Amino acid sequence: MTVTVALLGTGIMGAGMGRNILAAGLPLRVWNRTAEKARPLADAGAVLAADPAEAVAGADVVVTMLGDGHHVRDVMGRAAPSAGQVWAQMTTAGVDPGLPELAGSLGLRFVDAPVVGTRAPAESGQLLVLAAGAPEVRDTVQPVFDAVGRATRWVADDASGLAASRLKLVVNSWVLAVTAAAGEAVALAEALGVDPQAFLDTVGGGPLDLPYLQTKAAAILARDWTPSFSTANAAKDGELIVAAAAEAGVRLDVAAGAAARFRRAAEAGHGDDDMAAAYLA
Ligand SMILES: NC(=O)c1ccc[n+]([C@@H]2O[C@H](COP(=O)([O-])OP(=O)(O)OC[C@H]3O[C@@H](n4cnc5c(N)ncnc54)[C@H](OP(=O)(O)O)[C@@H]3O)[C@@H](O)[C@H]2O)c1
Repeated sequence: MTVTVALLGTGIMGAGMGRNILAAGLPLRVWNRTAEKARPLADAGAVLAADPAEAVAGADVVVTMLGDGHHVRDVMGRAAPSAGQVWAQMTTAGVDPGLPELAGSLGLRFVDAPVVGTRAPAESGQLLVLAAGAPEVRDTVQPVFDAVGRATRWVADDASGLAASRLKLVVNSWVLAVTAAAGEAVALAEALGVDPQAFLDTVGGGPLDLPYLQTKAAAILARDWTPSFSTANAAKDGELIVAAAAEAGVRLDVAAGAAARFRRAAEAGHGDDDMAAAYLA
């Protein structure tokens, strides 16, 4: 069976994912709030829909790759998908049970499926898909995950507990801590009259080194803020992490500090810049 896909959201991640869905030979219907951003996918063979409802009509799998859970609720409400369609919710939307509840009220077969990886892996089809969903929906959705990812890590048979999104928040707590710390270490070096490269060379190749540190520090030193993962989304994720932890009874000081730092950078006008702009806060 060839799976027809409706992709709602063609931002940094959705654009790359859409290309790889097409490259895998799956019929693709796309919608994006700002239609121009979806047009390259239409040029590559996708059907460009005028609204979310037109996009999901006739699709086997509806993929949401929007900014946050509020956008997802709003767009899925407008899409009004049909009972029985599979909904792969790939936005990083935290652990709000409202999304599986919405799926239940619409009669959709819900798969909680956030991704690990950024712009380049999205463009090259090398994301890691974290997924929770019933075994009987996996055959339908797996061709989509295979198109966008290098692997799928199925973590639970029941999507209602958002097990994949829970894992995603843990992974992103690490990503955000490392990125905020990279920005601070470079800022500290400069403030103390230390060559930031001396810091990078000192940890380079040792147990404290990290490819991510080298990548983000290189971007900071080049003052290259081209977004792979925007500062606004980093602030949003930091706040989701802190809220989920608080609800679970855990206080996170590093994540709270990182979230505040990304929020400050976003409010200073760097929301659309890469999260390496944590340095600028
Ligand atoms: N970039 C990464 O490295 C990365 C990695 C893993 C997961 N994620 C997560 O994946 C999701 C998408 O990330 P991204 O980097 O692709 O973000 P992005 O480039 O900022 O794209 C956001 C998407 O949401 C849409 N949107 C924003 N506000 C909306 C609204 N009010 N109503 C309807 N649509 C709205 C945007 O439409 P417009 O084009 O009209 O603005 C765009 O399609 C986020 O949850 C992010 O946290 C990102």
